[in-house]
Amino acid sequence: MSETILSADPAIAPGELRAFAGHFATGVAVVTTTHPDGQFHGVTINAVTSLSLTPPLFLICLDHRSNTLGALLASRHFGLHFLAREQTEISRVFASKQEDKFAAVPHRPGRHGSPLIEGVVAAAECSVSEICPGGDHTIIIGAVDQVHVFGGEPLLYHRGAYAALERERMVA
Ligand SMILES: Cc1cc2nc3c(=O)[nH]c(=O)nc-3n(C[C@H](O)[C@H](O)[C@H](O)COP(=O)(O)O)c2cc1C
Repeated sequence: MSETILSADPAIAPGELRAFAGHFATGVAVVTTTHPDGQFHGVTINAVTSLSLTPPLFLICLDHRSNTLGALLASRHFGLHFLAREQTEISRVFASKQEDKFAAVPHRPGRHGSPLIEGVVAAAECSVSEICPGGDHTIIIGAVDQVHVFGGEPLLYHRGAYAALERERMVA
């Protein structure tokens, strides 16, 4: 196994930090919300963490440049979806800045009005509990009001590319 030392400088460049962060394999999530003006918003993220069981809390991080961030802070509710292996196109749509991201994405209304995307492996409906500063991102802690667990193979993200699970028996 080779080691590449990218920087010994305390001010790590964004590209270097991306290279480091990209080695942490994640799932792919889409956060949706409805602005009080009625417009749907959604964003692909992988900065998502299970935070607490009692009370049930999840944490997401949104870039200050995200249009979804303002809508979510105004609505105080969001849907959190874990994408299925075959949903790379949905991930691309919600990672874009295109106008109507929901036009070709099957969805239904959730209990708080946030659109819920169909075909995902799991989804949660959340209410904003805390908002914390986090550099150029905002950390949003969501109280989980309801979960929907469908199952299936998840979509993964690793080193800037989509990936799928290759299951093998691991020693615990
Ligand atoms: C795999 C992947 C993970 C991403 N993770 C995040 C994230 O955790 N937080 C974030 O703010 N943006 C993340 N992005 C970038 C947003 O999806 C992108 O900036 C999007 O255009 C924002 O849309 P909006 O401005 O409509 O909210 C990610 C993109 C991809 C492809």
